[in-house]
Amino acid sequence: MSQLFSPLTLRGVHFRHRVFVSPMCQYSATGGYPDSWHLVHLGSRAVGGAALVMFEATAVSPEGRISPGDLGLWDDAHIGAYRTIVDFIKAQGAVPGIQLAHAGRKGSMQTPWAGGHPLPPELAWTTVAPDNTAFAPGIPPPKPMDDNDLRTVRTAFTSAAQRAQEAGFEVLEIHMAHGYLLHQFLSPRSNHRKDSYGGDFAGRARFPLEITEMVRVAWPEHLPLFVRISATDWVDGGWDLDQSVQLARNLGDRGVDLIDCSSGGLLPDAPIPAGPGYQVPFAQTIRARTGIPTGAIGLITEPVQAEQIVATGQADAVFLARALLRDPYWPLRAAHTLRAELPWPVQYERAKFR
Ligand SMILES: Cc1cc2nc3c(=O)[nH]c(=O)nc-3n(C[C@H](O)[C@H](O)[C@H](O)COP(=O)(O)O)c2cc1C
Repeated sequence: MSQLFSPLTLRGVHFRHRVFVSPMCQYSATGGYPDSWHLVHLGSRAVGGAALVMFEATAVSPEGRISPGDLGLWDDAHIGAYRTIVDFIKAQGAVPGIQLAHAGRKGSMQTPWAGGHPLPPELAWTTVAPDNTAFAPGIPPPKPMDDNDLRTVRTAFTSAAQRAQEAGFEVLEIHMAHGYLLHQFLSPRSNHRKDSYGGDFAGRARFPLEITEMVRVAWPEHLPLFVRISATDWVDGGWDLDQSVQLARNLGDRGVDLIDCSSGGLLPDAPIPAGPGYQVPFAQTIRARTGIPTGAIGLITEPVQAEQIVATGQADAVFLARALLRDPYWPLRAAHTLRAELPWPVQYERAKFR
């Protein structure tokens, strides 16, 4: 019996199995609004049988965007555009989730296909970060956040969480990974603050944990809260797995239901030993040492590989990104390979593998 295709319940939410769509920026929004691209893109993954369809990193404020094409949830006016897509995903039997994000010093950039460079001055905005260290040479330095900036971002996260609920989302994920704002606070390589939001582990974790507490209050009790972390910066003197375990415990204490275990993204030149399943040991260690459910991500591409990750207790679910861009029907195909039962959309039943 497939463990990958066994159901999972977190709080009041039932997942039909454990193949989740990893958040993937499409850089295709205007003014933060999702449109028909997002409906077709995310809707296809729901039709393809995914259990959770996670919307991409969605900015909690305009200056929290990576690029002008990012999704946003900083205005009540955004809610309706999400609801249409959320309703479609639910109608396919999938759970809709959203990743809330603030890019910090990695914001104000062009889309990747426009070059991925800093925006020209007429389109650029001032980024904010724990301190004034730029992400990379040639990128304008961010403004170090003062008390008012911290308050503004805390409020932006909680307001966006409330809007996500109104839009009908059933999973909320806080983005603390990939070198974006909350990761910038966590890592000693990007947080050189001298106040109570820097210094030792407790200081660097303070702001991400404050946001987690506030979001947990704003997000309904019966709905699960995930956090994506980078389990390591892959550099000496950076964030590492031991700190991730400590953070995961602190997040669990604050009502986080699943740690989504990615890595890297803080420094442009970190040597990352990418290979099949290379981040799975992070999910395994955090799960074993904290008892908190984890999600594994990163170069998980084969059904048997995904099955082994769940069946051997390395993680409770797998997130897939590029494999699901190549093939939105990956879950239907994998269920067939693993001889698991996963209903096809009735409209497609004549094409079912037999
Ligand atoms: C097009 C694209 C966009 C991405 N956008 C996000 C994002 O919005 N948030 C995030 O946490 N990770 C993002 N990622 C990282 C993926 O979620 C995933 O962690 C990474 O691609 C490794 O998984 P894979 O080997 O299955 O692709 C993105 C990846 C891709 C390919």
